Amino acid sequence: MTGRFAKLTYTPSVLEIQQKMGSNAANRLRFSPDEVEALTEDEAAFIAQRDSFYMATVNEDGWPYIQHRGGPAGFLHVVDEHTLAFADVSGNRQYISTGNLASDDRVALFLMDYPHRTRLKLLAHAEVTPWSEASEDLRQALPLGASGRPERVITLHVEAFDWNCPQGITPRWTSDEILESSVGDRLRELEQQNARLRAQLSAATLGQTQS
Ligand SMILES: Cc1cc2nc3c(=O)[nH]c(=O)nc-3n(C[C@H](O)[C@H](O)[C@H](O)COP(=O)(O)O)c2cc1C
Repeated sequence: MTGRFAKLTYTPSVLEIQQKMGSNAANRLRFSPDEVEALTEDEAAFIAQRDSFYMATVNEDGWPYIQHRGGPAGFLHVVDEHTLAFADVSGNRQYISTGNLASDDRVALFLMDYPHRTRLKLLAHAEVTPWSEASEDLRQALPLGASGRPERVITLHVEAFDWNCPQGITPRWTSDEILESSVGDRLRELEQQNARLRAQLSAATLGQTQS
């Protein structure tokens, strides 16, 4: 873990339990805690491939709230090494995440790559801009899905990030990912074989009826 991520997550209560449990996690930190983390090409490439993420916000009462966001791959756009942005669409019209951001701009993001059993956690400050007030360049850069009308741009000013180990992640694949894999190749092969056999069978049946 980086020093910056630890600075934001290793609170006195967390440090106390780490100490009590004999954990040396606080001694295994990389980089300075005061250095806001810049996304590298690795994080940028990973984020560009994601078609969903989970975003946690906090309300006025201190309750955390987590919601899923989905869209075309890359809909969470990497603006620069410190900034991400996505188009937030009209959905169930509950506006819980947006409402929470009005009182506390801090968010935690969870990005999953199930086939490769990889996850990336991000901590950021969110800035909410009505869609009509966002710059034309930014609006053009944000991929939109088939459903939902964009209502706002949520810009994320990244504070820190952390990669997790694959432990406990069960690999899962989307239907597109299955079709692009060797399983997809085998499926197409069997479909072709099936079509050939059907044609042979119907030709044989036709031959029998005519004789
Ligand atoms: C018509 C409709 C379209 C939706 N489109 C999306 C979408 O494109 N992306 C998404 O992440 N959620 C979509 N949702 C799901 C949720 O409504 C959406 O995540 C919601 O705005 C969450 O708000 P909240 O974060 O305030 O709970 C859609 C829901 C509905 C009813």
